[in-house]
Amino acid sequence: MSTNRTAERVRSFGTSIFAEISALAVQHGAVNLGQGFPDFAGPEWVKSAAAEAIAADQNQYPPYLGLPRLREAIAAAWRASGWREVDPASEVTVTSGATEAIFGAVQALINPGDEVIVFEPFYDAYVPDVVMAGGVPRYVRLHPPLKDEGRRMEDEAPRSDNSAGSSSFIPHPSSLTWHFDLAELAAAFSPRTRLLLLNTPHNPTGKVFSPEELAQIAALCIAHDVVVIADEVYEHLVFGGAAHTPIATLPGMWERTLTVNSTGKTFSLTGWKIGYAVGPADLTAALRAAHQWITFSTSTPLQSAAAVALEQAAARGYYAELRAEYDERRALLVDVLRGAGLPTLPVEGSYFVMADISQAGFSSDADFCRWLTRDVGVAAIPPSAFYRHPQGGHPQGVPLRHPQGGALRHPQGVPLRHPQGVPLLARFCFAKKLETLRAAADRLATVGKGRGAS
Ligand SMILES: Cc1ncc(COP(=O)(O)O)c(C=O)c1O
Repeated sequence: MSTNRTAERVRSFGTSIFAEISALAVQHGAVNLGQGFPDFAGPEWVKSAAAEAIAADQNQYPPYLGLPRLREAIAAAWRASGWREVDPASEVTVTSGATEAIFGAVQALINPGDEVIVFEPFYDAYVPDVVMAGGVPRYVRLHPPLKDEGRRMEDEAPRSDNSAGSSSFIPHPSSLTWHFDLAELAAAFSPRTRLLLLNTPHNPTGKVFSPEELAQIAALCIAHDVVVIADEVYEHLVFGGAAHTPIATLPGMWERTLTVNSTGKTFSLTGWKIGYAVGPADLTAALRAAHQWITFSTSTPLQSAAAVALEQAAARGYYAELRAEYDERRALLVDVLRGAGLPTLPVEGSYFVMADISQAGFSSDADFCRWLTRDVGVAAIPPSAFYRHPQGGHPQGVPLRHPQGGALRHPQGVPLRHPQGVPLLARFCFAKKLETLRAAADRLATVGKGRGAS
């Protein structure tokens, strides 16, 4: 029987490197810093609220828009943040995770052949979402911070005034963080562009888009009448001087933005899958039209507990505590990686840190991560998983550093000019107990001591 029974819209998807690395991690007993979810429990008071909701028999279908109490709590959170008065009846929809909100929004807002702008690297669901809706992704690269020889990227605070730095440092502020080229972004817009998918704080880079960058994106979206799906699931995880700005709060953007969020990241309850989307009535109505035939609704008692979480978090000082704890984990992991000879890129937000693996002797990040998982016992994710894969192949890695005046070079001296080249990095997750990070530290201590490609 040779007929391929898999529909064309999903045929190219295959299984991801995440599944491979997770299986390798289990097989080799590796400390798993690959998977993007906490290995610690969510707050007791939120878990108790869920148990109470189940005991109180809140166990039947909720309204498909989401429990009124949760939609009120989401609107109240927007008000408390000073963002906007939103109408819980017509501008808020509860979904099965941010994942469903994004899928549903893409289904609801594009027709086959329409183009969708996606910053690359991208959260891995975006492109399948666009492809399944018959859309065409248009990629705009986020470029990593550039450093020249003799300086370590992690020595620079993001967006700091670098005038006091070494004279050899590239004196452009955008070089301190991941950044896009405005001309490249402008060129990605066409008469067929309908949507732009924005993620800030950003997975996997840890970038937080600045108000200036958001204003540039907004101006282009307004000029081309493009809708933004803003994925802001890491809204509370920002560090140092970085601050999260929802693009929906910029002038002229509310009416063209669906802001997607999730209680999973904020309350360390990723398995609950309580997500939501906030936006103007017409975009919300479109999303709801899709949502009613995708999942229709999502778990009643967990929505009830999510409402309690949003209602009480600020007064309990939960958000400040969350940020402080993550900051400690971030600082520890950065130290551990640096100690292992893996320089880290600045982390402004999210719970991921990217490490520069270009000196480790591998030509692909996937090979490095396989080796690290198998031989060192620490699992990390190769960021090439977050780039388009030409012809189903794997993008080839290029070292991050730009040697003076020349082509990008392989660590062993072979020039790499692959047009799809992605920087040679590895993504580590710090949503982990301090003891997990210390266990990884013990194992990573071997990396800097002469181990190489196998
Ligand atoms: C950027 C981004 N968006 C969305 C999601 C998925 O959110 P949820 O679990 O609420 O579906 C994730 C999860 O890793 C993510 O990193």
